[in-house]
Amino acid sequence: MIDASQVTPSTPRRIDPPLKKGEKLPRLLAIANQKGGVGKTTTAVNMATALAAVGKKVMLLDLDPQGNASTGLGVKRSEIRKSAYDLLFEDGLNPAELSVPTKVPGLYVVPSSMHLAGAEIELVTAKRREYRLREALRRPLPFDYVIIDCPPSLSLVTLNALVAVDAIVVPLQCEFYALEGLSHLVKTIERVKQHFNPKLDIHGVLLTMYDPRNRLSGAVADDVREFFGEKVYTTVIPRNVKLSEAPSYGLPAIVYDMKCPGAQAYIRLAGEIIRREKKIMNMSSLTAPETAAEVQNNSKLIEHKIEPKEVSA
Ligand SMILES: Nc1ncnc2c1ncn2[C@@H]1O[C@H](COP(=O)(O)OP(=O)(O)OP(=O)(O)O)[C@@H](O)[C@H]1O
Ligand SMILES: [Mg+2]
Repeated sequence: MIDASQVTPSTPRRIDPPLKKGEKLPRLLAIANQKGGVGKTTTAVNMATALAAVGKKVMLLDLDPQGNASTGLGVKRSEIRKSAYDLLFEDGLNPAELSVPTKVPGLYVVPSSMHLAGAEIELVTAKRREYRLREALRRPLPFDYVIIDCPPSLSLVTLNALVAVDAIVVPLQCEFYALEGLSHLVKTIERVKQHFNPKLDIHGVLLTMYDPRNRLSGAVADDVREFFGEKVYTTVIPRNVKLSEAPSYGLPAIVYDMKCPGAQAYIRLAGEIIRREKKIMNMSSLTAPETAAEVQNNSKLIEHKIEPKEVSA
């Protein structure tokens, strides 16, 4: 397997086609950490659901051959026609046309397929191999957010996600080895910025599976906050069995049991993400005014739908 931190460009930097007047790109976020089982898929599914619940149109792209995000959203393997694999390799496919609706209004998924397991090898010799996903996704789409659930590796498939997106959400499990491998991820992000995607940013670091009764959880959270400072979201996802039960019903935890502490935490996270987005949009001189207004509008929307204390900064 190719390690993304060692990849140097095989093709000249891609220039994105200009947008026509009135066209806008969705915000593209990747949920990434090469460490396995840290809560990437749980975060992708529930964050996407929480954003859809406040009126955003969201597409979740399942880039992991394990397909946990697809099954966790109730997509049956037998129903999959075209998948994230096709998006990577077939030029000109429109992701909106591949996406299938879920039980959550406003949330669509481009499912994974087993073929993704072989994508790594096929990508090595593919044309514009680092930009395949960027070319497929960086176009006007009928979505406010595209959220990519990455596989647990820093492979060429993950590299495609990092090259395509605006920012990365990094889930970190509150356990002893949480910080292990993190410098490798940070190095890879720096390299992707340098060679392929200069505007790539870490959107935030999310502490997951936090157990307040376990002193180690607190110690890890302190370490991570010291290392990443303000990049760490205030919202912490608690260890909560409902979050692990929900996928077996093909439902996001927010739909399975909206009141459980895990679902509530993901709802708070969506509020925090929208507030951070607002800040980013306001700082960016390139932002179209209507985009900033829209985000602001939706922050109000979330404040109406969620208890005020949960969304206060
Ligand atoms: N906050 C939580 N509390 C309890 N269980 C959790 C929590 N978050 C995730 N889990 C469970 O932990 C396991 C790993 O989570 P998940 O699949 O989201 O991680 P991942 O990073 O996507 O894994 P992989 O690297 O294999 O793709 C799953 O069984 C999931 O249901
Ligand atoms: Mg996963």
